[in-house]
Amino acid sequence: MNENNVTRRQFMAAASAGAVAAAAAGTIPAYGNLTKKTEKLALLGGPKVRTKGWSPWPIWDSSAEDPILAVLRSGNWYRGSGTKVTEFEKQYAELMGTKRCLATASGTTALLVAMHALGVDAGDEVLVAPYTFIATYNVVFLSKALPVFVDTDQETFTMNPDKIEERITERTKAILPVHILGLPADMDAINAIAKKHNLVVIEDACQAWLAEYNNKKCGTLSDLGCFSFQNSKHLPAGEGGAIVGNDEEIMDRCYSFHNCGRPYGSVKGTSSYPIRGSNRRMQEFQAVILMSQMKRIKKDADTRLENALYLTSRIKEIPGIIPYKLARGATRSAYHLYPFRYKKEQFNNVLRDKFLSALSAEGIPCSGGYGPQNKDGLIEDALNSKGYKRLFSKKRLDQYREENHLPDNDQLCQEAVWFGQNMLLGTKSDMDDIANAIEKIYQNRGKLA
Ligand SMILES: Cc1ncc(COP(=O)(O)O)c(C=O)c1O
Repeated sequence: MNENNVTRRQFMAAASAGAVAAAAAGTIPAYGNLTKKTEKLALLGGPKVRTKGWSPWPIWDSSAEDPILAVLRSGNWYRGSGTKVTEFEKQYAELMGTKRCLATASGTTALLVAMHALGVDAGDEVLVAPYTFIATYNVVFLSKALPVFVDTDQETFTMNPDKIEERITERTKAILPVHILGLPADMDAINAIAKKHNLVVIEDACQAWLAEYNNKKCGTLSDLGCFSFQNSKHLPAGEGGAIVGNDEEIMDRCYSFHNCGRPYGSVKGTSSYPIRGSNRRMQEFQAVILMSQMKRIKKDADTRLENALYLTSRIKEIPGIIPYKLARGATRSAYHLYPFRYKKEQFNNVLRDKFLSALSAEGIPCSGGYGPQNKDGLIEDALNSKGYKRLFSKKRLDQYREENHLPDNDQLCQEAVWFGQNMLLGTKSDMDDIANAIEKIYQNRGKLA
């Protein structure tokens, strides 16, 4: 499904459905026409917009129980003696439309394995998106390479391709874009730069199951794509991860590396361990949970998409609320989080933290999202380490510190607001609660100063 097409279709449906619902509820249709919300803000002691809870997560049913028990009773709990991980890999590769999938213990390990398989080595530099979960660049440090941050496009929340080339040096080996919050990065632009400079590309799709770019699945648009199946994720198994790809030799290297460096496929040798490696294997229990969760992933994704588009149609006219925009070429977001930017100037200069408190008080859970992690302690911790001083010249590390300024990312970190994916699994009336709460705060902004 193409999100842009759906946007138009959904907009029409949402607008009329919203108007009917609004008329029934005696509230708002579109901004400009808002019914004045005179109730006191919940933060100031008034009634909450919403007192109900939200969808739980993860969701399972009893059909998951027998396969888990069968693995338990078989005693084949690891992939070397069982078949479940291999079965899941086949199913996930089919879902993604790739030749191969390798299941791993987590998303972090998927990224680590992918980087090793693509030859990211000590002393290399990797261009990374800074607006991401910390694991994205922790894995670069764990590979003894230097994560070089590329500023963020505030509208799309993803790596700004116009800022990539200025960060390339003779040590640059890879680009690591992130489809963050489920929003696809501009992969055509990123791949074109990678091709020009002979760099490999690894997609961090750890939040982007079934997101699409040019109608192809995120995670399948570069050399390798990595996914997470941690508990909060749309395909959850407590922990877990996967790498997808189409190059058999590279995928063989991934397999071998994740299995302690043992021979696999084209990775051959005369010794037992022809390449370096580690144990990054998925357990059989994880695989059976994942196969049962696979049954709901498409339907959940459609529900999130439909609700997200409706929510956007409801909040986009509120002054100071700027919903995410899809990057050029992106056709569908996965909505691991629903993001917008909050402009305090239109809210009587009420600080974002106060806005978040007011929204939470109305019964709408929300978060300000990531901070400017390129300034986190782990950066200096690495740069001051014995290893990094050996690997990089003082001149390079000083230059790195000087260039580690990301004004657009900084501003985004101050303005972003997120809603969790489970909130999008509800109904249109749940979305109305969110929109009504934001409108209520907007109309009462003068009382929050
Ligand atoms: C963008 C991103 N990258 C990497 C990871 C790491 O995945 P895991 O927690 O499965 O190791 C996560 C997990 O939250 C993530 O959100």
